[in-house]
Amino acid sequence: MYDTSIGLLNTAIADELAAIHQYMYFHFRLDDLGYAPLANLLKMTAIQEMQHAEMIAERILFLGGEVEMKVGREVEKIHEAQAMLEKAKSLEQESIAMYNKFAVECSQNADSASKKLFEDLVAAEEGHWDQFDRQSDFVQRFGESYLALQSFQSGPPEGGAGQ
Ligand SMILES: [Fe+2]
Ligand SMILES: [Fe+2]
Repeated sequence: MYDTSIGLLNTAIADELAAIHQYMYFHFRLDDLGYAPLANLLKMTAIQEMQHAEMIAERILFLGGEVEMKVGREVEKIHEAQAMLEKAKSLEQESIAMYNKFAVECSQNADSASKKLFEDLVAAEEGHWDQFDRQSDFVQRFGESYLALQSFQSGPPEGGAGQ
């Protein structure tokens, strides 16, 4: 009964690992561009994706499965901040759609705890999407220099690296 869930959970881990790699890449690229607050947002988001991977791995082990640790996709070598934000938003959108689908599938397989995990992940990824969308909106309205000026303030960007 739980074999299907284990498969879905391993697909989810591959997605989380891909996000971690992509956001780490964005983090050091943005840091190199001098956009410290946005770089920090990407770093904190990558750490949250790592926590997601761990939560999913715990569930796989509980169900008696193996954690495959495959990485879902290659890192895209994007150098412009706005293009990074667009990519990050699309990654989150894909995760949201996938986890919503997986939650329904787990429900159909009478695996409520995995369903709940996927629902919690949907909420977390929606939060990530919202933060990236906010930053993307600021760059569109004020231009990329906004990201450099933001660096003179202390702390993370508004709507920041909280959760
Ligand atoms: Fe995640
Ligand atoms: Fe995310």
